[in-house]
Amino acid sequence: MNTIKACIFDLDGVIVDTAVYHYKAWKRLANSLGFDFTAHENEQLKGVSRVRSLQLILGWGGVVKTQAEQDVLATQKNEWYVDMISHMQPNEILPGAKKFLDQCRSAGLKIALGSASKNSMMILEKVGLVNYFDAIIDGNKVSKAKPDPEVFLKGAEAVGIPPGECVVFEDAIAGIEAAIAGGMKTVGIGSPEVLGDADLVLSGLSEMTMKKLAQL
Ligand code: BG6
Ligand code: MG
Repeated sequence: MNTIKACIFDLDGVIVDTAVYHYKAWKRLANSLGFDFTAHENEQLKGVSRVRSLQLILGWGGVVKTQAEQDVLATQKNEWYVDMISHMQPNEILPGAKKFLDQCRSAGLKIALGSASKNSMMILEKVGLVNYFDAIIDGNKVSKAKPDPEVFLKGAEAVGIPPGECVVFEDAIAGIEAAIAGGMKTVGIGSPEVLGDADLVLSGLSEMTMKKLAQL
C-alpha cells in the first residue's frame, strides 16, 4: 500500500474535453492569419498558458506580431473559446471522471484542481463539479506555468498534504513534467507514446480504480 492522500486533477482533457475547444479556437486563429498547425503540434499546447500557446503558434506560422497585437489575438482566441464553453453541460464531463471523484471522496482523499486555465471556475460551474474540490488552483492563482510545479505544489499545500503523498492526473506532457518536478506520483491521461514519463498511463479516468491508486 502506498500513502496517497490527495488527488490533484488537471481540468482540460482530464475531467472535461475542453482540449478540443482550445484546439478549435487556436486553429481558427492560425487560419485567420493564413496558416495551420498539426494535431501533433497541438500536443505541445496542452497545459501551456494562453500567452505561451500564442507564442508557439506564431512561431510555427513564422508570423511576427508586436506585444499589443499578441494581446488582441489572445483575447480573440479566448472569446471564441469562452463562446464554446459557455454552452457546456454536465454531460460533457469525460467518462468515469465523476465516478472516480466520488470514489476519492468516499475514500477520504483530498481533491484539488491544478489547471493552467483562467476559465476553470466557469467550466466547473457549467458542468456542476465545483463542490467536489477541497482546493481550486487555476491560472489566476499561479505565476509560473507548467512544467513549473507551482500549480500542483500550491494544490498540495492548500489541501495540507505533502507532495510525495499526492497523485496528479494530467493529459499534457508539460503537466506530467510539472508533477514529477514537484515530487508527486503521476497518472497520464492519453497515449503512452506521448505521456510515457508518467507512472501509469490510462486512456481516461474510466480506467482508474482505487486498486490502481494503491499500486502507484
Ligand atoms: C490549460 C490548457 O488547461 O489551460 C491549455 O491545457 C490552455 O491548452 C491553458 O492554453 C490556459 O487556458 P485559458 O482558458 O486560461 O486560456
Ligand atoms: Mg489538460
